[in-house]
Amino acid sequence: MCGIVGYIGHRDAYPIIINGLKRLEYRGYDSAGIALYDGTQIELAKTKGKVVDLEQRANGSISKKGTLGIGHTRWATHGVPNDANSHPHYSNSGELVIIHNGIIENYSSIKKELINRGYTFHSDTDTEVLVNLIEEIKKKESVKLGKAVQIALNQVVGAYAIAVFDKNKPNEIVVAKLGSPLAIGVGEDEFFIASDASPFIEFTNNAIYLEDEEMAIIRRGKDIKIRKIKNDKVVKPFVQELQLNIEQIEKGGYDHFMLKEIYEQPSVIKDTYRGRLLVDQGIIKLGGLEEYIPKFINADRIIIIACGTSWHAGLVAEYTFEDWARIPVEVEYASEFRYRNPVITEKDVVIAISQSGETADTLAAIKLAKKKGAFVYGICNVVGSTISRETHSGTYTHAGPEIGVASTKAFTTQITVLTMIALKLAHVKGTISKSDYMMHLHELDMIPTHVAAALKSNDKIKEIAKVFKDATNFLYLGRGYNFPVALEGALKLKEISYIHAEGYPAAEMKHGPIALIDEQMPVVVIAINSNHYGKVVSNIEEIKARKGKIIAVVTEGDTVVRELADYVMEVPKTPETLTPLVTTIPLQLLSYHIAVMLDRNVDQPRNLAKSVTVE
Ligand code: G6P
Repeated sequence: MCGIVGYIGHRDAYPIIINGLKRLEYRGYDSAGIALYDGTQIELAKTKGKVVDLEQRANGSISKKGTLGIGHTRWATHGVPNDANSHPHYSNSGELVIIHNGIIENYSSIKKELINRGYTFHSDTDTEVLVNLIEEIKKKESVKLGKAVQIALNQVVGAYAIAVFDKNKPNEIVVAKLGSPLAIGVGEDEFFIASDASPFIEFTNNAIYLEDEEMAIIRRGKDIKIRKIKNDKVVKPFVQELQLNIEQIEKGGYDHFMLKEIYEQPSVIKDTYRGRLLVDQGIIKLGGLEEYIPKFINADRIIIIACGTSWHAGLVAEYTFEDWARIPVEVEYASEFRYRNPVITEKDVVIAISQSGETADTLAAIKLAKKKGAFVYGICNVVGSTISRETHSGTYTHAGPEIGVASTKAFTTQITVLTMIALKLAHVKGTISKSDYMMHLHELDMIPTHVAAALKSNDKIKEIAKVFKDATNFLYLGRGYNFPVALEGALKLKEISYIHAEGYPAAEMKHGPIALIDEQMPVVVIAINSNHYGKVVSNIEEIKARKGKIIAVVTEGDTVVRELADYVMEVPKTPETLTPLVTTIPLQLLSYHIAVMLDRNVDQPRNLAKSVTVE
């Protein structure tokens, strides 16, 4: 979703903001803009399209001068993607300039009032309403920018991360946050503003993350003043040292971030369990979990809430938690859960899974569960994210920044964390035998090697992609632990190639999708050695009988499915419970190669956002 960047200091703001916007491209967007102020003149350039289009627009139209500036990538909510709706937006007087990530829900009633008072609007956005509301308050109440922002934000309903400056205040930017992320980089006599720390990481390792309902007045060469928007209470800035480095957010020789992230999986899965999975001692040690183990073990049930790929990781956990720890599990889409008046009690444990830690629906579902008295445990990738702060406790996945919009390494590291939690609970509860527990610790420790081996099939998978790249539909089938993998495989293909794909439990095929099968239909079947192997083989026969094309994911050394399938993609042998960590790899590669062959924008697929901060 929208990205915001700002700078105030002693350097030229233009290159910092443009590079910063490029770093935030992964969030997904359809237009971009920038405003610069050199103390005399405000210059603004904006356009539908990408940051490179903005650079072209800026080349002819502005001088790019100014050591204060704000920039924006917009993911359309109110109003189509076009130049006028792009940010930044001026107020009517031309004195205030704003960028905004989020939604002002009551904008239309405010807009009507402002129109009655003579204001005119040049876009369809809620953001232009907000900047004019600030202007109106500033004039009517004769207050300074900071105060006017505060009064205005107390009148609006919705979510926001904003940055706004005033022509009369060349040394000041005001920012505020509710529901959308906002980080402030603190340098030597300079400040950076951004949706996350990636735009300023080469300038400073020190950052302040604003909390919800906080605003900050940032003055050139001075301190930052933070206040609570509601009650004006002063907040002492908490400066965190960032662990991020520049290599982590660059492509490192790969054509796309997605490919880099697929290939990082052996090492990041290891990072996820490093220091936590102590095989020699037979111990799993998860800092955030230890003191809450009784809560989990005595819970009536575990409810897992998440969206998108994270929801698929939750589905895998349903199998491990029930199988090993014998605790009933429900896996819910956060967006449905939050609006369903769900029955939740203090005896429920909720696990919220989120790569970004910022997904609006997941966050709202967490707040609801907390209100109803449940204990909420978070599994996030982004350190310091809103969800990681909103939950009672949790575990980070430590996958490093995931920039490709289609999630890959976040998925496998989420499963790694969930597997460790399930094993730990089962061990403490005594619902898993000592030998099974120890076998799984050893096998989990082998997963990075197995994933690396699965990646070796890349060239072969590329050949398969060539054969099927022009198909218009795909079906993905899996059973048991690999049913969620089928869903995830289909989602990956849809997201980046725009080919329609459906994931289904293999046995359910007879209840509908079988009607679609003909010689045009590729069917990806996860047919690894498992309890369901025989049954999946029967499903493959059924597809063959209807002339469907079979691409099968099989265990190394398989002979039966190899005979039946048109193409096979091999993965190393591992216990069935851990297979999702390896079977997902060829499916990621297959989607990737098809998308590249179709010339799609792999890292920033159309209409999608990495971090969905609006509901
Ligand atoms: C978006 C992303 C997906 C992600 C989902 C949930 O749709 O494009 O890749 O799975 O949001 O995001 P989260 O950050 O909460 O895991």
